[in-house]
Amino acid sequence: MSKEFKRTLITSALPYANGPVHIGHLAGVYVPADIYARYLRLKNEEVLFIGGSDEHGIPITIKARKEGVTPQDIVDRYHGMIKKSFEEFGITFDIYSRTTSDIHRETASGFFRTLYDKGAFTEQESEQYYDEEAGQYLADRYITGGCPHCGNEKAYGDQCEQCGTSLSPTDLINPKSALSGAVPVMRKTKHWYLPLDKHEAWLRQWILEEHKEWKSNVYGQCKSWLDLGLQPRAVSRDLDWGVPVPVEGAEGKVLYVWFDAPIGYISNTRELLPDSWEKWWKQEDTKLVHFIGKDNIVFHCIVFPAMLKAEGSFILPENVPSNEFLNLEGDKISTSRNWAVWLHEYLEEFPGKQDVLRYVLTANAPETKDNDFTWKDFQARNNNELVAVFGNFVNRALVLTQKYFNNKVPAAGVLTEYDRDTIAEAQKVKAAVEQLLETYHFREAQKEAMNLARIGNKYLADAEPWKTAKTDMERTATILNIALQITANLSIVFEPFLPFSTVRLRTFLQVEGLLWEQLGSFDLLPEGHTLGKAELLFEKIEDEVIEQQVQKLLNTKKENEESEYRAMPVKENIQFDTFEKLDIRVGTVLECEKVPKADKLLRFLLDDGLQQRIILSGIAAYYPNPAELVGRQVCFIANLEPRKLRGIFSEGMILSAENADGSLALVQPTREVLPGSKVV
Ligand code: 2FM
Ligand code: ZN
Repeated sequence: MSKEFKRTLITSALPYANGPVHIGHLAGVYVPADIYARYLRLKNEEVLFIGGSDEHGIPITIKARKEGVTPQDIVDRYHGMIKKSFEEFGITFDIYSRTTSDIHRETASGFFRTLYDKGAFTEQESEQYYDEEAGQYLADRYITGGCPHCGNEKAYGDQCEQCGTSLSPTDLINPKSALSGAVPVMRKTKHWYLPLDKHEAWLRQWILEEHKEWKSNVYGQCKSWLDLGLQPRAVSRDLDWGVPVPVEGAEGKVLYVWFDAPIGYISNTRELLPDSWEKWWKQEDTKLVHFIGKDNIVFHCIVFPAMLKAEGSFILPENVPSNEFLNLEGDKISTSRNWAVWLHEYLEEFPGKQDVLRYVLTANAPETKDNDFTWKDFQARNNNELVAVFGNFVNRALVLTQKYFNNKVPAAGVLTEYDRDTIAEAQKVKAAVEQLLETYHFREAQKEAMNLARIGNKYLADAEPWKTAKTDMERTATILNIALQITANLSIVFEPFLPFSTVRLRTFLQVEGLLWEQLGSFDLLPEGHTLGKAELLFEKIEDEVIEQQVQKLLNTKKENEESEYRAMPVKENIQFDTFEKLDIRVGTVLECEKVPKADKLLRFLLDDGLQQRIILSGIAAYYPNPAELVGRQVCFIANLEPRKLRGIFSEGMILSAENADGSLALVQPTREVLPGSKVV
């Protein structure tokens, strides 16, 4: 069933204002949303692109507490930073606002109240941990205690970060409040729930039957949720940071952040268009599209639609193009581990190269599966595609026109069959890119756009205007006219993807105001039109620059490993007599060599004071010249039951210290002692 839409309302997930934004944000949500918005505007369609910061939620309060500032201080700091980064990367929001605005509080509060008055919620009492000293209920993250799975003493009420297990606060052994250190008590509390179970039937029909065209990752996730059966979800929290629950008797309670955040899309539209916002949210001829990351799917496909439906006067999303995650050099991007390419840092290090990042993130977008960003790939795509294909073609067309035609667009004469084939080929790009963009395949769409530059490059290479210029200026004029028209077409087709470079390109060409519908025309630049001054559109990125970035990440990795290592919990206490059971001694190395066919093992022959003994140790990687160890003293456990390894009896264990990166160093006495000396 295809509907007739008159306008498109694009929303992009509101990022939490508790840290700066990184490449994962851009790749997953904001670049594709911006490409889509720019494309529709180029088509002269009526479009609105809404963004903003998500400023509520527990992580913000935790960060504020850690820094000894207020949650408002935190969101003020990051909202400004995030907004600036998006502006700098050319993300063309019509509004970028925030969920601490008055209009948002009023909108979210009003929305809740409408649902409440309609009886769309259920109320339930439950028991929750309460801190009597701090006088407040504790969010799961605010309770710490022992992990029942791995013994970590500092597990959180929602998760143990050591073993990764999801927990609930009542699983913790000896729970403590992270606010005051007090032992929390169980106390009754009341919350409002959205009974998703009651919405299940229509959600099944709407998503699984009427939106089979949604991307398979989105459809699949919705189907698993629905197949598991939906449960009521609490939409309020006992907390002092958020939109107060607008109901009597709800003092000290706020709306759950995932209830108020998507309403932020509506509040921001109201803020921008106080008189006409309803047209965008309540008319069936508006196409609502949510751009999000995969961790937001359930909220945008199930919870928010259920809220909108329960309210009754709003439209539902037509599509929810969600991306998977972008990893960085093989590891998950992580704000807390500083494993990210931060946008503000990128711009300091690569000034003016916003489009290069936009290009690479789209070329490598995690559209159907998680993908990896690597600096090598970044360099290769810049050098081999932007510079060698796009930039090179544009530069040749412009420089040759300058050389042979005094920088004026030459007239096209009689076309050869090859010219006509090239033009026909170039004209196919429009429909292909459109079809891909309209089905949210941004990565393929950009590839198709690049195809136009490849067509241009091939045309110049085959037609060789530098050769024809020696004998036939009329032919040369035709070739360069066609090449220049392709260049002007490139400035249209790439505008959604590379907005900064296409502005420059249009300055080189001295044209403006080109529209999508003109894509495919070969009279964009009239005969005799004077071109501007041509510069290089893209620059090569050298190896040293990339190596610096890789080194920066290696440093971060090392710092992370070291701090995790330092935070390693000490094992459970043992009694002195348990320790005494270990017989640790010093031995002098008589022989040391690699064990054949065992990469990791060294075979030590030790003088242990009484006799000679063989011990195998897995440290070969750290001692490439084992013979050098002969004559040194090492510590070993003398009474460990002998074990057979690779057919050799190993009589004990040599002690080594393990570094943060896992490398090993032998432990040795600082002064020579008698072989067989006890380590006490
Ligand atoms: O995952 C996140 O970063 C959330 N702050 C997204 C919210 S999207 C919308 F609902 F506002
Ligand atoms: Zn654990």
